[in-house]
Amino acid sequence: MRTIAVMTSGGDAPGMNPCVRAVVRTALAAGLKVMGIRRAFEGLLAGDFVDLGPRDVGGIIQKGGTILMTGRFPEFREPRYQRLGLRKLNEAGIEGLVVIGGEGSMHGARALSEMGFPAIGIPASIDNDIYGTQMALGVDTALNTIIEAIDKLRDTASSHQRAFVIETMGRGSGYLALIAGIIGGAELVLIPEQEVPAEDVAAAVSDAYVRGKTHAIIVVAEGAALHGQALIEQLDAMNTGFQFRLTILGHVQRGGRPTAFDRLLAARFGVAAVERLQAGEHGVMVGLNGREIGFTPLAEVCEQRRRTNLEYYRMARMLAK
Ligand code: F6P
Repeated sequence: MRTIAVMTSGGDAPGMNPCVRAVVRTALAAGLKVMGIRRAFEGLLAGDFVDLGPRDVGGIIQKGGTILMTGRFPEFREPRYQRLGLRKLNEAGIEGLVVIGGEGSMHGARALSEMGFPAIGIPASIDNDIYGTQMALGVDTALNTIIEAIDKLRDTASSHQRAFVIETMGRGSGYLALIAGIIGGAELVLIPEQEVPAEDVAAAVSDAYVRGKTHAIIVVAEGAALHGQALIEQLDAMNTGFQFRLTILGHVQRGGRPTAFDRLLAARFGVAAVERLQAGEHGVMVGLNGREIGFTPLAEVCEQRRRTNLEYYRMARMLAK
């Protein structure tokens, strides 16, 4: 193997840049040539490739987003696009590929690898819903962003004796909301995995009022059955003792400087991915298993879903009392 490429794909996640840096520098240290594929799988089809030398990844370790840019391209599930992608890789003399991204991106890596092209995945998604790793890149930074917001909102909530509904990302996964609820001291967490009737939410808030709390914090994942303005309107009508306000954190959670944890994880994932490729192994995703780096076949990653540990839900409710 003489030339490898790296791309970032799917929703951006803090930690992608330090991971690109780690991939590039590891490959260069091994005497390989490295190319960046810009704009993920769509960029692959357009042949949007750049040479990456050691200085091209200088000064990016502390940056959120991704210098390679990213995108979602579900069409890559179609065999005609996969064949075109393979052709573009061959034309550019690329012999191995590292895909840094979420679950959808791992499908792309898997398709190429099943066509015999050496591809390897690195999990990056603030949702932490990728099977095969305890932590994906970006999760820790996003959690830090969320708790900073919760801490600030609690200041204003207590000053006005209000209840705040704080909405996090997580279309299909409650991980971010659940962990943020525990570490941010929420009265209640609403997640897609656990349906809670509006009456129970009102009861938890009302209970906090009766116990003398000066505020109530409810953290809601965007994918929860009850969320947004509709939730606020229902709660306002139920007379809990508090007035409600809604804050949707949105894409703020995807940006920002990667934390120490994410930078180290990015370095470990990047090094492991390139060394595995070089050793002639592919079709796997790098992941964190306990404190160790592990590898899971991409087929398994794509066919399973990482389930949110509902023990955290019990903890969140107990600790709110
Ligand atoms: O990165 C994952 C995620 O943050 C989801 O939680 C969210 O629903 C989605 O991306 C939104 O991304 P976009 O607006 O970029 O499509």
